[in-house]
Amino acid sequence: MCGIIGIVGNAPVADRLVDGLKRMEYRGYDSSGVCTIVDGQFVRRRAEGKLANLLEVLSEQPATGTVGIAHTRWATHGAPTTSNAHPHATEEVALVHNGIIENYKALREELAGENRKYESETDTEVVAHLISSGIEKGLDPREAVGNVLPKLRGAFSLAIAFRSHPDLLVGARLGSPLVVGYGDGEMYLGSDALALAPLTQRIAYLEEGDWVVITRDGAEVFNSRNEPVAREIQSSGASAAAVEKGNYRHFMQKEIFEQPTVVAQTLGSYLRQSDHTVALPQLDFDISKIKRLTIVACGTSYYAGMVAKYWFEQFARVPVDIDVASEFRYRDPVLEDGGLALFISQSGETADTLAALRHCKAEGQTIGVVVNVPTSTMAREADLLLPSHAGPEIGVASTKAFTCQLAVLAALAAHMAVKKGLMNREEEAEVVKHLLEAPAALNAALNHDDNIASMAHLISPARDVLYLGRGQDYPLALEGALKLKEISYIHAEGYASGEMKHGPIALIDDDVPVVVIAPSGPLFEKTVSNMEEVRARGGQVVLISDAEGIKQAGEGCIATIEMPVVHPLIAPLVYAIPVQLLAYHVAVVKGTDVDQPRNLAKSVTVE
Ligand code: F6R
Repeated sequence: MCGIIGIVGNAPVADRLVDGLKRMEYRGYDSSGVCTIVDGQFVRRRAEGKLANLLEVLSEQPATGTVGIAHTRWATHGAPTTSNAHPHATEEVALVHNGIIENYKALREELAGENRKYESETDTEVVAHLISSGIEKGLDPREAVGNVLPKLRGAFSLAIAFRSHPDLLVGARLGSPLVVGYGDGEMYLGSDALALAPLTQRIAYLEEGDWVVITRDGAEVFNSRNEPVAREIQSSGASAAAVEKGNYRHFMQKEIFEQPTVVAQTLGSYLRQSDHTVALPQLDFDISKIKRLTIVACGTSYYAGMVAKYWFEQFARVPVDIDVASEFRYRDPVLEDGGLALFISQSGETADTLAALRHCKAEGQTIGVVVNVPTSTMAREADLLLPSHAGPEIGVASTKAFTCQLAVLAALAAHMAVKKGLMNREEEAEVVKHLLEAPAALNAALNHDDNIASMAHLISPARDVLYLGRGQDYPLALEGALKLKEISYIHAEGYASGEMKHGPIALIDDDVPVVVIAPSGPLFEKTVSNMEEVRARGGQVVLISDAEGIKQAGEGCIATIEMPVVHPLIAPLVYAIPVQLLAYHVAVVKGTDVDQPRNLAKSVTVE
């Protein structure tokens, strides 16, 4: 949700801290701040709004110093003002925090006798005071932090600086990610390896409950029982260039256009081209014995799960329950013995999905995870890890992660069907052949970019837009509506086309564009009937279909978007492209902040 970084350096750190924040701005961009230590005093600079504002502050009032911490915020407690921006500081302690301290009010009460002055409305500031209280009583940083961490409830990662111990930083994680970076005579803390990519590739991932003291000489890691522990130093492989836009105007645009490549990459690791078979990693459970599949995810990842439900049912004949994580975790789901619970997430850190995963694990389910960040918490807690290989996704609106998730899920559904004896060798080869056609079809879909850009003005003046789809195109309708609302701020809803006449059709008038997603095929006629019901009431239809579909039903639509003719299995991947491009171009016409839409953040590590 927020991004944090810390450096114990041997050269000035402010520029490098801000560069790290730039790489994490997708995590939150309400406000930002830096604190360094200069001549035994904290130098703190903070600004409301985008990072550019902090840069302006720093250009007028530089922060020197070779040790520092920094933060980019997605507000939870307290408005995104300068006084609520991190770092929060007392005379002795400055800290940055990602997550939520749920018991902050009780903790403030605990300190009530100490006459402490708070300058923010945040849940974070009290932690600085608690640690400070220990330091003022003569504790050293380790003792002070070690005493405070067990008192904190909620989810957090922290980076903490000490005025009178200017050669060290302390980091801690519980529920929010934190990595330790190893440099040459320098050490780093960061919310992710990407933030540290230009500084180092040598990364140790802290485990839940760990805390760490870093100095220029290295790191000492402790677990939640304050016992020293070793955490392996790995090569992160995170590339500094991955966070560049290249020749594209926005990250979202770049990521949309990367899809043929990254989907091919993903398919390449789950399909064997030589003999047209599905090749999943070695499983240490028998997938043919799985009696029920429970899919849990949020947002776009949830819609990928909805598409996959059709595949698992159709190919593997396994019953599938699917739920959004925030609902799943607060009902009392019936989880049969022998079930596989499958979690889908780009970040692998989404708090609700992670909580649902842990619940299923405690209930004895086998845990499968389709995740884009292979070092994420979900990846590390999975029995079956299925990376989606989309590469870093920076645009807040998810695009390439979605199509890569679909590629993995299609392969998994086919694999399960093969293992259950429901898909013979020829059928498997046929499925693999169609999946391998996806990258070229995605390219063909991207060729319609100019056409879609030129029709964006038909949608941009609308207050409301409806998206309709049937069968596996229904989740795409939901995804199309989500994309449009999150980046263009136009209210949009996705409906199963057959549901229109049960209520939503009342919304139709000539001010409400209706985007119909309908490749030709067995369900086409049905969707076209629903489309005609809309048109009969003055609805303005944009039809996304193939040449045959447009020939049959395109007349009278305000616009059509022609997709290549593809096998139904890969249609959800291909039809994701026009849906993403339409939202993108409408947002560009409206002049919204495509990559950092208001109120959102990429990685939702709070409930
Ligand atoms: C929408 C979007 C969100 C995410 C959701 C889940 O464009 O990006 O709806 O899909 O927050 O995030 P992950 O997949 O990281 O668990």
